[in-house]
Amino acid sequence: MAFSKLKIWLVAATSFTVTFAANNSFNLTPFTIDLSSEIPRLNVLMNNTCLPATALYSGVGPDKGIELNLIAELRNEWPEIFDWETQQAELNQFAQFTSVIEGQTVHFVHEKSKEADAITGCQNVTEQRGTAFDTISNAYFMEQTTKPNDIGFALYDSPVGQLAWIGGKMKLWSDPRAGTPPSVLNNTVILTSVSLYYLTGSFLSSMWIYASNPNGFHTVYLKVPMLFGQYEYNIGLWLQDYVTQVGNLVSYRVHNFGGNFAGLDNPPALFDDIREMGLYFKV
Ligand SMILES: *[C@@H]1O[C@H](CO)[C@@H](O)[C@H](O)[C@H]1NC(C)=O
Ligand SMILES: *[C@@H]1O[C@H](CO)[C@@H](O)[C@H](O)[C@H]1NC(C)=O
Ligand SMILES: *[C@@H]1O[C@H](CO)[C@@H](O)[C@H](O)[C@H]1NC(C)=O
Ligand SMILES: *[C@@H]1O[C@H](CO)[C@@H](O)[C@H](O)[C@H]1NC(C)=O
Repeated sequence: MAFSKLKIWLVAATSFTVTFAANNSFNLTPFTIDLSSEIPRLNVLMNNTCLPATALYSGVGPDKGIELNLIAELRNEWPEIFDWETQQAELNQFAQFTSVIEGQTVHFVHEKSKEADAITGCQNVTEQRGTAFDTISNAYFMEQTTKPNDIGFALYDSPVGQLAWIGGKMKLWSDPRAGTPPSVLNNTVILTSVSLYYLTGSFLSSMWIYASNPNGFHTVYLKVPMLFGQYEYNIGLWLQDYVTQVGNLVSYRVHNFGGNFAGLDNPPALFDDIREMGLYFKV
């Protein structure tokens, strides 16, 4: 999900208006998720990956990486409480499509709002995939930017490894109240997210996003309207004065619930943010 994930997300969506206005004839292909065939193999890998019996280094917190009890809990919940078919059926309740945009096949949810005059949005699935975009200048960021193949190949076929790499961050960078309303970010959601990375074989490419965009986080002043949402427990705090310097800031909203994965940790607030964006759409 993203850095000021929301910022980039909103900026991207705002810039998108321009393209959309220039060409609104997308060819949509209906899409249904069907990743069940790889589940037996995933189960075998999950079951057969050994974790240390006890933590070698005691008294260290999550700032040293995912804690043994958490990775063990997630792994153990896999066969106990997690059912891929249920999660897949839930995701497939949303109308999904693919379309080729500038040579790239893009998969998205397209659901019309029940509210009159609302703009349409690309929601949950996209949000979950978005986790691949989290960023702060720390070890994981340097690793993914400089040696994406090392970590990418190491964890490509390791569901437990991906749980450690992705699941740890989903816990650490979220509101401590995660899992209580309005947050829907609980262990089931983490397991579903990691399953999506594993089953679609996208772990390696999600590492390469960083290496492929070495200047992706450089500041270029954006003239298009920029809307900014600050979620209290996000990994960074961007004050309004600072944000004003990087773009045509037309809205700055502070949410006192939620973290880096706003779409999971505070979906109602993110929906409001996106709806506000609709005010700037010129179609
Ligand atoms: C607009 O979209 C259509 C259909 O995808 C495509 O054939 C055409 O080249 C696009 N035109 C521009 C100007 O991008
Ligand atoms: C994985 O372990 C669970 C619980 O021990 C067991 O029910 C399941 O049959 C195992 N699955 C595979 C594929 O080994
Ligand atoms: C997104 O998913 C959550 C639970 O997974 C659900 O409660 C919520 O209604 C979904 N949002 C939309 C807009 O469908
Ligand atoms: C997580 O929340 C969903 C509803 O959003 C629920 O169906 C699921 O059982 C919860 N999982 C856990 C482990 O509490």
